Amino acid sequence: MKFHITTFGCQMNVHDSQWLASALESRGWRQTGEDEALVYILNTCSVRDKPEQKVYSELGRIAGHLRRDPGVFAAVGGCVAQQIGRGFFERFPFVRLVFGSDGIAGAPNALERIAAGMEERLALLDFMPTYDERESVPAQSVQFARQAFVTIMQGCDNFCAYCIVPYTRGRQKSRHPDAVVAECQALVDAGVREITLLGQNVNSFGMDKGGVGTTFAQLLRRVAAIKGLDRLRFTTSHPKDIAPEVIAAFGEYETLCPSLHLPLQSGSDAVLAAMRRRYTLDRYMGVVEALKRTRPEMALTTDFIVGFPGETERDFQATLDVMAAVGFESSFSFKYSDRPGVAAVNMEPKVAPEVAADRLMRLQTLQNSITRKCLKMLEGMETDVFIEGLSRMQGGEVPSWKGRDPAGRIVNVHMKKGHADDLVGMLVPVRIIEAKKHSLMGEGTGIPW
Ligand code: SAH
Ligand code: SF4
Ligand code: F3S
Repeated sequence: MKFHITTFGCQMNVHDSQWLASALESRGWRQTGEDEALVYILNTCSVRDKPEQKVYSELGRIAGHLRRDPGVFAAVGGCVAQQIGRGFFERFPFVRLVFGSDGIAGAPNALERIAAGMEERLALLDFMPTYDERESVPAQSVQFARQAFVTIMQGCDNFCAYCIVPYTRGRQKSRHPDAVVAECQALVDAGVREITLLGQNVNSFGMDKGGVGTTFAQLLRRVAAIKGLDRLRFTTSHPKDIAPEVIAAFGEYETLCPSLHLPLQSGSDAVLAAMRRRYTLDRYMGVVEALKRTRPEMALTTDFIVGFPGETERDFQATLDVMAAVGFESSFSFKYSDRPGVAAVNMEPKVAPEVAADRLMRLQTLQNSITRKCLKMLEGMETDVFIEGLSRMQGGEVPSWKGRDPAGRIVNVHMKKGHADDLVGMLVPVRIIEAKKHSLMGEGTGIPW
């Protein structure tokens, strides 16, 4: 069976899609281009209105393929599937499977049954009380064979006032730490060199029904100690939960990459309280200082929301101030978007869209200038780049490559003659020669390994 999969949203969705594609391939299904597929899978995101709307327009496009083959059908998974559920069956009759993130473990079998004509429609929308272990599947491509995501938990218990995730992904469910470590060990044994541990709030790992007394700091140490693992990352961290033991680990393990995504959302304590983030700016800055003390080369990235209900110009000014004070390497910033069922829907006064748009532009302008300064400081530095693929910029005698430095910055690498082989999945010693707007240029200085 030929299938096509489109993914929206966060890394957890990206990873879920990778797993689903591999699980289908191990059943003999084949991933194809859009014009050839018979089964269209959309793995969706509901965090803001825009990605939700994209799902409907994408389904409208897929409906066009019914003319080519009336047997074409679609499956909708992820956060919008959980939110709208069976409603998809009415609006788009060619949707024959909906599955939430807790239902994904059953999606490959469900798709097989539907494709075989054994079922007309199926909905996998129940939340599980604990993490439902998925079948393990071999990685399909070289890049994924060298870099892997490992889910350590599902869902979220925080109920930040603006956020739909606790409703779409359910309560927090930690995996058993032994299952996480065993998966990481198996990946490293199979050749994986870089692992990213995933969860909506990894720092509260184990603090739910699935917990067995292992904290995130302990889990992190167990994974970091795996021999043969070159790079370890984790995301996302919540500023209220990051423990001193986690910060300390950055000073103990060379493999733990010197970067952290630590969503701040706002620089104003009043807005943070209204958002129900349960930390103050003081607490946040304390964490930042401790991180920089432990690992001076630490690169910090973050998320911001502008135009949260009640945000004043003064509140926003505080956000600009802290952006400059911390010197975030980069950030994702968004206009607040009302989501169904979240607490902030009923909060007043709403910020006018044009005011929010103006704030977003000012914030992003400041970020761009900080990003440029951060990257500029790296010119001349020696580093290691993990090669992910060919660079878009070619033209020399030997191919140029694109990869990431330990902090996760994108580096385009020119190699000298004699290293023209496929470098995907290799680490290359590099000197940074030039900072671009959002990336770095470097030249290979030694033997890839
Ligand atoms: N679990 C992570 C990220 C969750 S969603 C965390 O706790 O930070 C990713 C980002 O989307 C959030 O950090 C937030 O900045 C943004 N976001 C979430 N809900 C939003 C909304 N209703 N409007 C605008 N941005 C939102
Ligand atoms: Fe959403 Fe807050 Fe949970 Fe992050 S911590 S997923 S922002 S509720
Ligand atoms: Fe989006 Fe769901 Fe991830 S709402 S950000 S796909 S958890």
